Parts: sequence; structure tokens; C-alpha cells
Amino acid sequence: MNLDWSNLPFGYMKTDYNVRCTYKDGAWGEFEVSSSEYLQIHMSATVLHYGQEAFEGMKAYRGKDGKIRVFRWEENYKRMVNSANGILMVPPTKELFKEAVFTAIKKNEKFVPPHGTGASMYIRPVLFGSGPEIGVKPSKEYTFVVFVTPVGPYFKEGFNPVKIAVVRDSDRAAPLGTGTLKVGGNYAASLRGVEKAHKAGYGAPMYLDSCSKKYIDEIGAANFFAIKDNTYITPESTAILPSITNKSILEMLPDMDIKVERRPVSIDELDSFDEVGACGTAAVISPIGEVYDMDEDRKYLYCKDGKPGPVSQMIYDKLVAIQFGDAPDPYGWVEIVE
Ligand SMILES: Cc1ncc(COP(=O)(O)O)c(C=O)c1O
Repeated sequence: MNLDWSNLPFGYMKTDYNVRCTYKDGAWGEFEVSSSEYLQIHMSATVLHYGQEAFEGMKAYRGKDGKIRVFRWEENYKRMVNSANGILMVPPTKELFKEAVFTAIKKNEKFVPPHGTGASMYIRPVLFGSGPEIGVKPSKEYTFVVFVTPVGPYFKEGFNPVKIAVVRDSDRAAPLGTGTLKVGGNYAASLRGVEKAHKAGYGAPMYLDSCSKKYIDEIGAANFFAIKDNTYITPESTAILPSITNKSILEMLPDMDIKVERRPVSIDELDSFDEVGACGTAAVISPIGEVYDMDEDRKYLYCKDGKPGPVSQMIYDKLVAIQFGDAPDPYGWVEIVE
């Protein structure tokens, strides 16, 4: 493949194949490998009317040895099951999920970016209610699709500091809503905030808890973290997505002699942090250089020399080295696509 791998955006690009499977009459059928980018769907499918849909986002990386490594797919599977249960859908079996993901990667192997370009292959499993209903109730039929697309960095800044804007006039999730699930409805609800941040010239919104607007929830499609006195602080909230990247960082920190605090994080603390950042599959670890509180017209500035902070840099280096196979994987996070 002859693509400008080092300058790929985080966007959709057509690849050769995708995998799809249907749950009908109480059982999952055989999966099909398709070269069409389209799905034929019933106009009364519950996904279209009542948002019965969940998805995942994970990555595969090409190592120096040419091998392709998938990062923690079992965690993405568990989260998809949790999302499915949360909105009363039938999840795929673990075997189906793995087969579909690995087949989609193998069939599109030439789209896995070369090592050293910084790019990777993004994998998007999607599950939705495809059976017709008109009353508000769960579908009896489900469709599971996995497609892949090569991607570059989520923020145009890459690993350089990004700018974030606090948004208070829209909420992505309610405290007892679906914020902990990766369901489409949360992302529809987040669009106004994303748009507001972009229009103001910022990379992503910072969402506060929707009850008191005192505590930091998330940064767009990534979890928030802060560093203070060699301690990694990340929000505890009933409305944020449990990030697999954040979970992995939390598991690495004891080996890096960095302390951990997982607790509600007040926006008033922004002043006191040495470093702040966003973490996620797409965002990887994105250092934040500025948080702008539009309502208060107040700016919190970090990375004043224009560079990521030292602790963010250390965490980034360690995580990315494991993902690309440049360092040993003592945690057993990576599975090679044979
Ligand atoms: C709302 C939200 N929060 C956090 C994350 C980060 O999660 P992960 O590290 O599992 O990609 C994502 C992306 O998946 C997300 O969409």
C-alpha cells in the first residue's frame, strides 16, 4: 500500500472487507465477510428510532518485526457486553467477537500502517437492534459489524499540547444515565459541546458532572487525568466511560513509582496541577496545554515551554512501547495476529 502513513488523519478510509453477523430467532448466525460498505436495514429497526446501539474502539499496531499486535481486545469485549446489557441488547459471544475482529484485521492487513509512522489500525465493532418495533422495547434481532480503518492522531497536535474548553450548557450523560456505556446516544448528546469547543478554537470540550457542575467528568472522547507531586489523579464518576487506556495506565503506575488517586476531581483544583491530559484509544495520551473556562473567561495554562510534562511523557513512552511491541509486555496486554 502506498499511503502517506505519517500524515493520516483520524478519519474513515475505505478498506477492502468488513465482517457482519446477525442474531435472529434466539441465536447468532455465521458471520459473513463483505466488501460492501453498506448495510441493508429495516426502516423500523430499533437503532433508528430508539438508539439501540453500542460500539467499541480499539487498535492494532505493526511492530518492528512486521507483526500485528492487538491491544487488550478482551477488555473491549467486556465493555461491549456491559454496553449491550445496559440498553437491553444481545451481545455477541466472546468467540464471535474475537473471530470477527481478527478476521477484519487479517483481511485488511495491507492497511495496517508500517512501524515508525505513528499511525495504527482503528477497529470499530458495532452492535445494534436491527429488528422492527414501533413501541419502545428492545429489538428481537441484532446486527454485529466489525470494520477497520487506518488512522493517525486524534488531535491534530499529536503528542503536542492540546487546548480544551469547559462546556457547561450541555451534558453528555446524566449521573444515573448511560455515561458508563459506549452507546451512540451519549455521543449524540455530546455533539453540541464538541461543536461549541471547536467553534471557539479548542480541540475538545471538558464535561463537568451534570448535577453540580463542580467536578470534572471527561474530555470529549477521552478520560481526564492530572499530575500533582508525582501523583496521578483521575476522576471517579458514575457518568464517565471506563477507559481501557486509563485502566492500563493505572495498572502501570505502581511499577513507575507514581502514586494514584481516583476520586471526584473539582474544577477548582485545575490551578494546583503540574500537568493535565486526556487519555483514550484515539487520544492515546494527549497533554493539555490550556483549559479555557469560557463562562468565567479564565485560562489555566500548562506545558508553558510548549512540551508535554515529564510524567505524561514517561507514561506515554511506556504505553506506546508496549502497544507497538518495542518493549516487553509484562502485563500480557498484547495479542499477535497470526
Ligand atoms: C467518552 C469516552 N471516554 C473515554 C474514552 C477512552 O476509552 P478507551 O481508552 O477505552 O479508548 C473514549 C473512547 O473510547 C470515549 O469515547
